[in-house]
Amino acid sequence: MTPESTVAQPGLSARLPDFPWDRLEPAKALAAKHPDGLVDLSVGTPVDPVAPLVRAALTGASDAPGYPLTAGTPQLRAAISDWVSRSCGATGEFDVLPTIGSKELVAWLPTLLGIGPGDVVVIPSVCYPTYEVGARLAGATVVRSDSLLAVGPARVKLVWVNSPANPTGRVLPAEHLRKVVDWARERGAVVASDECYLPLPWEAEPVSVLSVCGDDLSGVLAVHSLSKRSNLAGYRAGFVAGDPALVREVLAVRKHAGMIVPTPVQAAMVAALGDESHVAEQRERYARRRTRLREALTAAGFTIDHSEAGLYLWCTRGEDGWDTVDWLADRGILAAPGEFYGPAGARHVRIALTASDERVDAAVARLSR
Ligand SMILES: Cc1ncc(COP(=O)(O)O)c(C=O)c1O
Repeated sequence: MTPESTVAQPGLSARLPDFPWDRLEPAKALAAKHPDGLVDLSVGTPVDPVAPLVRAALTGASDAPGYPLTAGTPQLRAAISDWVSRSCGATGEFDVLPTIGSKELVAWLPTLLGIGPGDVVVIPSVCYPTYEVGARLAGATVVRSDSLLAVGPARVKLVWVNSPANPTGRVLPAEHLRKVVDWARERGAVVASDECYLPLPWEAEPVSVLSVCGDDLSGVLAVHSLSKRSNLAGYRAGFVAGDPALVREVLAVRKHAGMIVPTPVQAAMVAALGDESHVAEQRERYARRRTRLREALTAAGFTIDHSEAGLYLWCTRGEDGWDTVDWLADRGILAAPGEFYGPAGARHVRIALTASDERVDAAVARLSR
């Protein structure tokens, strides 16, 4: 084999979409020229402190010479189960599994479930890009649709829902989730419900898919994250809960593949899941920032759609979203173009609530000028 033919092998990355954030660099450079500095509202990365009790649990578990359990320590499994019963309203029998944040689970779930070429993964029309990445890593076909009636007779193996949604902040009513579960069960498809923004409701009360299934959770998984709820994006802490047979299957593969949450992070998760006061405090911070940004954007002529819950304001000025990105960049504010999340998002921008109070104040002042 010549060196050239080795190089010509297409890598797995060739299956994946272009990394879109690079395309935002010119707007970022423009916004950074503002004399009072950049206000970056493009990425939803938490900026507020980690709660002291969570940090104490992490350091308290730092003497961890042995391998951690892929299934999670008994303490963590109990903490997740309690939280799921309490916060997701699950009444059916379920199993739980910690994950290394939720992004890796989203990216690998189709592969972990044995989904492959010829299979279809349905994702929301405007959504978190990793659902598509996961389907493509598995070699499956992606169909973007919010209405399952429009999907047709394809061999659907997995349906992703996301409520409250990134980037739109849309909340799906319980009846909608129930219809998705019924539709998927008729076809033998799995429903994966990404619920990482469930703890951040504003104008609607989001529900977990686990609460709409009664005693039967077959074919249903709920995906959760502590990144937003507890400012633990840097720890990589998430979990999946639902159909015991599916969770067992995912665990069996993950044990072989070494997808294990580190012991100190498992201990930190126990502390974080057992405390709601730091979550309430963080929710208050986001609520204040959201009110201020919402008022300023509306006064500046923006229309805000959905955004009933979660970490984003989904806005439009009735023009191409990239023009809105430039308009904001001229004022030193960086937003994410809606097109990053699917073609149907092209006339919107996503504005994150994850900036310090000082930076949000700066954005508000610039918008009102
Ligand atoms: C909808 C959605 N799901 C999953 C994730 C991944 O979060 P993490 O990997 O930090 O748990 C994000 C992150 O922004 C998200 O918006």
